[in-house]
Amino acid sequence: MKPIQVGLIGAGVVATGVAKVLERNQNEIMRRAGRGIQVTHVGARNLDKARSTLGIAADYSSQLEAVATHPDVDIVVELIGGTTLAKDLVLKAIAAGKHVVTANKALLAVHGTEIFAAARDKGVMVAFEAAVAGGIPIIKALREGLTANRIEWIAGIINGTTNFILSEMRAKGLDFGVVLKEAQRLGYAETDPTFDIEGIDAAHKLTIMSAIAFGTPVQFDRAHIEGITKLQATDIRYAEQLGYRIKLLGITRRRDDVATGGIELRVHPTLIPAKRLIANVEGAMNAVVVQADAVGTTLYYGKGAGSEPTASAVVADLVDITRLHTADPDHRVPHLAFQPDAMSDAPILAMDQVITSFYLRLTVADEAGVLSRITGILAEHDISIDAVLQRESAEGERQTDLIILTHDTLEGSMNKALAQMQALPTVLAPIVRIRKEELA
Ligand code: HSE
Repeated sequence: MKPIQVGLIGAGVVATGVAKVLERNQNEIMRRAGRGIQVTHVGARNLDKARSTLGIAADYSSQLEAVATHPDVDIVVELIGGTTLAKDLVLKAIAAGKHVVTANKALLAVHGTEIFAAARDKGVMVAFEAAVAGGIPIIKALREGLTANRIEWIAGIINGTTNFILSEMRAKGLDFGVVLKEAQRLGYAETDPTFDIEGIDAAHKLTIMSAIAFGTPVQFDRAHIEGITKLQATDIRYAEQLGYRIKLLGITRRRDDVATGGIELRVHPTLIPAKRLIANVEGAMNAVVVQADAVGTTLYYGKGAGSEPTASAVVADLVDITRLHTADPDHRVPHLAFQPDAMSDAPILAMDQVITSFYLRLTVADEAGVLSRITGILAEHDISIDAVLQRESAEGERQTDLIILTHDTLEGSMNKALAQMQALPTVLAPIVRIRKEELA
């Protein structure tokens, strides 16, 4: 049978990996897919550069739309990123009856609802394994492997750049700014690292996982996003003394205790017990923990970025589509795992409704009654203390650090308690507050 024909849009690092993997493993891939998969068309702005980096024989064109809609192309692979041109090309490819593979997390987190609806109308597939955690097959796991389960929560280290920075901060006792510069010098962080360090990239990926886990629409605009730019080496050190590591986690949790039901969707620095496997994921690696009712806890670990790890996911999608493209569209796996007419309307909860525990660092006057006033305020808001650590003051020093770990509480209650504690004259600096999750 003639190979299925792919139009590759983009000629960067991931596209190069796709070309290489398809070439190197063509026999293995054909044995699995039942027919060959061949990149026959390439769309790129700089054609000479694209020819030399991809190194494959294909029809090269700088008319990206012409590739996306070319009559000879069966599957369009979108690897240009961004949400404007990419959206236009993906919608045009779908309108032309093409199946689409994309690694574009921002595109799906923001415009997924529109894109999936368009694909359903045309009876085509949009596959996006590479959009979340690169080479880790987490979409396949959530959408198919765990399909028997009621998923309870997901917690993931889903941004390699920030995990690299946090690992270096902990190992070397350095502050964020110093490590960021080093990460940029080594090529781990982009020249403009905003999407990574502010948690936006992680929130895109979390939004997609949450929608698939709970059968809700993608709602990136409802995600709570905090990055790692304000983290201080001091807090990483205190966390370590208390048996915790700080990671940038994407957390999504089903909440049945709320009257309407609800979903937590949040990215922020988080203390997690050092003994958890995910706490020991270091450097640029990614990992996702899924808690589900039947299987219990499962952990997925691997490279979340890079040329061939991401290509591994793109090519897996190409194989899936090759196997399924002749199937009745109603018999394919739904884009978001749940049948379109069985989606949930559980709302994304506001942060003051989130339940979590906290690490607090207060700079306080070292005098009688200070601790009892602070614990009194916490008690008034029904916040239970899990551990307290006070730094021994140096000779003649009038202030100290007071570290408090709490048990789970409503974030809204903590906000009220924090406002009262901050107003005490014996609290001498802004209180540092980091959320904590036991992931038990
Ligand atoms: N910039 C991302 C990361 C990889 O650092 O993990 C692509 O999403």
